Amino acid sequence: MRIAGRVALVTGASSGIGWAAALRLADAGARLVLHGRDRRRLSALAGRTGGFPVAGDLADPQEASRLAAEAERLAGGVDILVNNAGVGWAGPFSAMAPPDIERLVTVNLVAPMRLTRALLPAMCARRDGCVMFVTSIAGRTGVAGEAVYSATKAGLDSFAESLRLEARGSGVGIGVLVPGVVQTEFFRRRGRPYERRSPRPLPVDRVADLLVGAIATGSAERYAPGWLRLPVAVRGAAPGLYRWLAARFG
Ligand SMILES: NC(=O)c1ccc[n+]([C@@H]2O[C@H](COP(=O)([O-])OP(=O)(O)OC[C@H]3O[C@@H](n4cnc5c(N)ncnc54)[C@H](OP(=O)(O)O)[C@@H]3O)[C@@H](O)[C@H]2O)c1
Repeated sequence: MRIAGRVALVTGASSGIGWAAALRLADAGARLVLHGRDRRRLSALAGRTGGFPVAGDLADPQEASRLAAEAERLAGGVDILVNNAGVGWAGPFSAMAPPDIERLVTVNLVAPMRLTRALLPAMCARRDGCVMFVTSIAGRTGVAGEAVYSATKAGLDSFAESLRLEARGSGVGIGVLVPGVVQTEFFRRRGRPYERRSPRPLPVDRVADLLVGAIATGSAERYAPGWLRLPVAVRGAAPGLYRWLAARFG
């Protein structure tokens, strides 16, 4: 779709992939609504892009509908929704406190569903728009020590796939970006740094380019990096082999 002149709402715009994607979208001529919790960073990004900052916590069940209403009030509606905000949690599932389970499910899965529910009908009525979801390779393969995070991303992936089928012929594109490891604050903030030697984390600007490219071309899915479709294909075609390899190499 054409990006210039459109209104793009980016969640998680105060950091990492969302921040870089917002800058790319502004370069492409989009008008921005920028969401996150960190008011100072949102204001700084709004200063650079001319976007509208809207601060709030997606762990609050009312925040998605408040954000949709704010986007309508400030920018007159949303053409491109980038559901990017997300949080991780790493460690053995048995050690995970129940409130952390709820926080991950609310922020990573329920909030994007609620936000999409609030904004999709107007896009369908205009027969124009795009909803992108930032999922994760963890949601396609499962990852030990990230059971709840992986489940939220698998849920988001399946939600997007179902919605795409439902939105066929509506004029609205639904897509997912499936990142592997990206150089952002994500790992530090979840409380466990990324320590593997490979795969090497991707630069965030490259991931933002892929995300904005997927919006422009109406792609159903983009992996970042592209070779990540290989383990997913192996898991689908030969699950026994995949599990053996995953147990051996992690
Ligand atoms: N980095 C990776 O390797 C990687 C890999 C696969 C998928 N992903 C996904 O990519 C997305 C972006 O992550 P990132 O790597 O850019 O991480 P990041 O730098 O930590 O950014 C996360 C963003 O989400 C926002 N956010 C988190 N909790 C929120 C809440 N309760 N309410 C509102 N906003 C909230 C943060 O806002 P504040 O900073 O203002 O709190 C921040 O803007 C996430 O969905 C993540 O799961 C990342």
